[in-house]
Amino acid sequence: MSVFRTKSIEQSIADTDEPEYQLKKSLTALDLTVFGVGVVIGAGIFTLTGRVAHEMTGPGIVISFVVAAVCCALAATCYAEFASTVPVSGSAYTFSYASLGEVFAWIIGWDLILEMFLGASVVAQGWSAYLGVLLGKFGITLPEFLAYGASPFSETKGFDLMAILLIVALGVLITVGIKESLRVNMVLVGVKLFIVLFVIVAGLMFVNPANYTPFIPDSVPSAASEGFSWTQPLIQWLTGSAPAVFGWSGVFAGAALVFFAYIGFDVVATTAEETRNPQRDLPIGIIASLIICTVLYCAVALVVVGMVNYADIDPSAALANAFAHHGQGWMATLISAGAVAGLTTVVLTLMIGATRIIFAMSRDNLLPLGLARVHPKYRTPWRISIVVTVACLIFAGLTPIGMLEEMVNIGTLSAFILVSLAVVVLRRKRPDLPRAFKVPFSPVLPIISALICLYLTLNLSLETWVRFLVWMALGFLIYAVYGYRNARLATGKALPHDIQQAMDEGVVRPDDQR
Ligand code: ALA
Repeated sequence: MSVFRTKSIEQSIADTDEPEYQLKKSLTALDLTVFGVGVVIGAGIFTLTGRVAHEMTGPGIVISFVVAAVCCALAATCYAEFASTVPVSGSAYTFSYASLGEVFAWIIGWDLILEMFLGASVVAQGWSAYLGVLLGKFGITLPEFLAYGASPFSETKGFDLMAILLIVALGVLITVGIKESLRVNMVLVGVKLFIVLFVIVAGLMFVNPANYTPFIPDSVPSAASEGFSWTQPLIQWLTGSAPAVFGWSGVFAGAALVFFAYIGFDVVATTAEETRNPQRDLPIGIIASLIICTVLYCAVALVVVGMVNYADIDPSAALANAFAHHGQGWMATLISAGAVAGLTTVVLTLMIGATRIIFAMSRDNLLPLGLARVHPKYRTPWRISIVVTVACLIFAGLTPIGMLEEMVNIGTLSAFILVSLAVVVLRRKRPDLPRAFKVPFSPVLPIISALICLYLTLNLSLETWVRFLVWMALGFLIYAVYGYRNARLATGKALPHDIQQAMDEGVVRPDDQR
């Protein structure tokens, strides 16, 4: 029995080909684009932009956004080829189980769990930042120890009450099985787009060109730079440079961070089964949402660093406070309200994503099957929902700001590296499969994609690497002592009745990240 055993693509398709399980193929490229933009635009642009510009890049953040976009565009084309070759609704986990082999599927699944549940926690913190601004406009101020930024490990001791409440509320919703409605999503995407466009258009009036000089501020030693710092990018440590921020190295470190803002476009790949013409529409949906987000992000970043000098940018709710800075209170209120509405769906989608990934891995018995048991009344994998909710609320409520984004990014980037390489492997192993969308210049582009992703991970901090290695070691341990022996692919064990029934009825969609 090999750790490289694969689930055949035909088998993966057959798993979801039960007549009852077939979903209506109704989504068009436009729907997918709307969906993608809805998942992607979140705390990255609303909160992270301010912090990265303030602490790391200055106006050069615009270049960081472009670098991160190039990385995502390459990874996105690899995703698109996968999605069009393996047209089951699935995540990179499913795709890799069918191509690279079980141990890689496990690694990717484990990475995706990290991406989704910590991603949800970060966006919940960003949501809390904007709610704080909004409540402030109505004269309500939370005590400091319950507000955004409070944690047992930061200067302001306490916890982020609002982030916790949001996670609990959404956790209850996913446990009782709300269905994400495309219409509600459409409205919220509309609200978000309006706010982002509003920031760009209204913000232009307050831009002071002097704020663009210097565009890339000179590199300065970072605060804790007595030769060694856990917060310096790995690459600085490897090359023996002194820990520094700003300058070109700051721009690349910034790119590795704002990469967070693009996370989520891969979720579009999970809708293959519901798409009218997946071969054509999926690549369009993925790439179009990425292009739209890139243009919007660069424009927002350019406007915000033009409105306020980077040294004065508010690192928490930067978009709203740039307007408050210019005395435009009502505009700041509008932006905060829009952010609060818009960020909610991102948290929800990521939480559902985490439950679906864990469900898929438990169903394959790489994690305990018992986790995936379906609630008799609510027809949801309620145990997983509760685990995800508790994990998210602990992380959103108790970790200091800025600790989790990098973990989300390193998890996602490593999944992207494997997906890029998988394109090359699958072309070799299964040249016969029809591929409606092909990455041009393969294997060169997929390899460049993997290298750029790798380069971005090297720009993440040493402490992030250590935490990530600990997470991966834990993952390998679980695989070695549990998953390897119990995988259904090896044991052929039948699924418990409730899980099988829920899957047959299409109540729970195992390979669906949403
Ligand atoms: N891209 C998502 C965000 O920025 C995760 O919130």
